[in-house]
Amino acid sequence: MRPKAELHLHIEGTLEPELVVELARRNRVDLPSFDPEVIRARYSFTDLRSFLDVYYENLAVLRTEADFYDLATAYLRRAAGQGVRHAEIFFDPQAHLSRGVPLEVVFGGLSEAVRDGEVPAALILCFLRDRGAEEAEEVLRAALPYRDLFIGVGLDSAEVGYPPSLFRRVFDIAASEGLRRVAHAGEEGGPDYVWEALDILRVERVDHGIRAMEDPRLVARLRDERIPLTVCPLSNVRLRAVPSLRDHILPAMLDEGLVVTVNSDDPAYFGGYVEDNYEALRRELGMTEEQLDRIARNSFEAAFVRGTESGGGA
Ligand code: HPA
Ligand code: ZN
Repeated sequence: MRPKAELHLHIEGTLEPELVVELARRNRVDLPSFDPEVIRARYSFTDLRSFLDVYYENLAVLRTEADFYDLATAYLRRAAGQGVRHAEIFFDPQAHLSRGVPLEVVFGGLSEAVRDGEVPAALILCFLRDRGAEEAEEVLRAALPYRDLFIGVGLDSAEVGYPPSLFRRVFDIAASEGLRRVAHAGEEGGPDYVWEALDILRVERVDHGIRAMEDPRLVARLRDERIPLTVCPLSNVRLRAVPSLRDHILPAMLDEGLVVTVNSDDPAYFGGYVEDNYEALRRELGMTEEQLDRIARNSFEAAFVRGTESGGGA
């Protein structure tokens, strides 16, 4: 299996139904069903919003430091089995703070799992864009005492109606703290959201970014500046950002010379971990080994942290 880095992965999106049930029992959280197959059967989404509703609902079972530790440990074990040599992992503190789970619990569990994990990894703190810029700034300030435990900030959740420009100030503060910057843009939102992420938030990678392909000037900018895009093919199909894998624009992005990477996004919900995404591209799109090698090389180039096991960006 080819070595790769995974750069677009929400730790909350690795919560498998079996772990939902285990944690619900441990924490005495009531669930509509304790059958993992019944929980899994609910995962038929029509768009980003309908996915996010289920995703946030399942988070009710995550309560203690041990829960966050177990969640991230399980992901890192699976990632090792998928050829991942380095992972940069998103987490959504607001999705836990809003349920009364303190930041120290989230940081404690996740950072210990990263320290002990089977794959070298780093954490990226994401702001939930639909909760607004003011709250994002409060969260960043509250997280600064844990500054050593995360390498950057990102922007996720419902995209349309929450343009990157709203978050200029909080990204400026992050930059002044030496934090790396990424944002989801161009998944459901248009190329204008990608422009704003680059020009206003000064992001160093674009998460998804598939709709950038609608704007040739933007494609040229991304190519010339070698700004990586973290594309998530199975996610795009499940959230209907593309009609089917065969219609995915990823091969054209590669042909344009973009620094495209392939990632799993929320693998517990979208039917596969990162190697499963590579495999689906091979099977459904007929992508060649040479193309997939290039994508894997891109993933090391696009990583913020260069580990020795990654071949130092080779
Ligand atoms: N897009 C936006 N927000 C998210 C996603 C996604 O794919 N996954 C988890 N939060
Ligand atoms: Zn995502």
